Amino acid sequence: MSDRYLEFTNSAFGKSLSGLLGLPSPPRLKRADAAYATRPLGGQAVMLGGTTAGDLAAPLLAALNEAGATVQIAPGHVGLARLKTAAAETGVALKTEPNPEDRAAAAFAFVFDASGVDGPARLRELYDFMQPRVGRIPANGRVLILSRAPSAAVTPAAQAALQGLRGFVRSFAKEIGKKGATANLLEVAPGADEALAGPLRFFLSPHSAYITGQTLPLSAPPAEVGHQFQQPLAGKVAIVTGAARGIGAAIAATLAREGAKVVGIDRPQEEGALGETLSKFDGYGLALDITAADAPQRIAEEVTARFGGVDIVVHNAGITRDKMLKNMAPHLWDMVIDVNFAAILRINEALLKQGLNDGARMVCISSIGGIAGNAGQTNYGATKAGVMGYVEAMAAQMASRGGAINAVAPGFIETAMTAQMPTGPREVGRRLASLGQGGLPIDIAEAVTFLASPMAAAVNGRTLRVCGQNFVGA
Ligand SMILES: NC(=O)c1ccc[n+]([C@@H]2O[C@H](COP(=O)([O-])OP(=O)(O)OC[C@H]3O[C@@H](n4cnc5c(N)ncnc54)[C@H](O)[C@@H]3O)[C@@H](O)[C@H]2O)c1
Repeated sequence: MSDRYLEFTNSAFGKSLSGLLGLPSPPRLKRADAAYATRPLGGQAVMLGGTTAGDLAAPLLAALNEAGATVQIAPGHVGLARLKTAAAETGVALKTEPNPEDRAAAAFAFVFDASGVDGPARLRELYDFMQPRVGRIPANGRVLILSRAPSAAVTPAAQAALQGLRGFVRSFAKEIGKKGATANLLEVAPGADEALAGPLRFFLSPHSAYITGQTLPLSAPPAEVGHQFQQPLAGKVAIVTGAARGIGAAIAATLAREGAKVVGIDRPQEEGALGETLSKFDGYGLALDITAADAPQRIAEEVTARFGGVDIVVHNAGITRDKMLKNMAPHLWDMVIDVNFAAILRINEALLKQGLNDGARMVCISSIGGIAGNAGQTNYGATKAGVMGYVEAMAAQMASRGGAINAVAPGFIETAMTAQMPTGPREVGRRLASLGQGGLPIDIAEAVTFLASPMAAAVNGRTLRVCGQNFVGA
């Protein structure tokens, strides 16, 4: 379903009318129109800052340089000496920040190494860097802060201040969302420095257009991290459940765009739609109900026999059967638990015995409904929160096989599921996001594809919210 208000306010007439009446004017988000490239930031400038102390500048500079970015620094900046030392170590050339009037040379992204934050006073250095530049963040610009995990801090003051960065990012994202700009935080564990490049590319790119206000912890990857950024899924086999339509169809197409061979699964009654979706990228269809008793075994046997195993598993199929708990019949409870939750556990159990290749990455689709809760969704909320607990619980087991498991929690996404909502809640769902609109299936697909790829080697056991910073969702 299209967002008519967004279309209207982005027309010439709608823009002037909404301006005149003081109505909100959600921005048109710039989304990726192509696959990942080797040097995606070629020709683009990134403004870099950092606290006086800290130790992420060198890997950060190396990753920005490898991605093709021109790195700018400000002459009077407190962290300058450290950035210059890191630049000398890595052989990366630094440019002086251009005059604010020079729009052509202006940075599209602002990256700050806050790994040296050791107490409340040091947060001032972030303020000093960001505050004078807020007006220079362009439409669809990016702000990315890097820090160490609060839990790894040695003093209570450092732990508290590092946690303070999360609050900064959440609030700042709300301030710059009207421009379609995003702000996010990466918390880099010791041992994860070498795996920074993938998340950095994702969060600075249009592939992450609907993700803002989020904190993503990076942990030491289980194996050496590769640097193949173009067609990162070439040679991989991926299963996607619920692939016939909606978010699942977008996930299947996006995984294929990055080189994966996709096995799409959907219910037998959706076989026609499934075939149509998969025919666009030579995917392989498996028409089965994931809750059927023999489904786990059939999936495991089929991927082993046809493809020699599977490298990516995306558990996307999901249903809602909303009712206030006092009116909820037992079968409505059971159906939702079975499709959204229990089937995932059964399928994984079978795949872990047969069919799952070493280094396999899994992504489960959760929901903001499992975080914020919605009246009438006790069954759905239990499954979606359960999925988040499941990825946490399974992370170590997946890492022991060289792989990972993560979840994506979509907010309000424009699909058949949300088109059924009454107009009032639907409008609230859209406008209450910092980005002022609902997401599109492609936004979830991009996040899943990132997490399914070696670019996210340092991400395991996490839930990434793709919600435009909103708390309403199916
Ligand atoms: N649309 C949103 O705003 C939103 C928000 C948060 C989370 N989600 C989650 O995203 C996922 C996809 O949602 P969507 O909006 O694309 O839904 P959708 O209803 O458009 O598509 C779901 C797909 O799953 C398939 N499916 C359902 N039960 C199945 C079963 N037993 N076996 C095999 N396939 C089955 C359906 O046939 C359908 O093709 C779901 O897990 C949903 O809970 C959606």
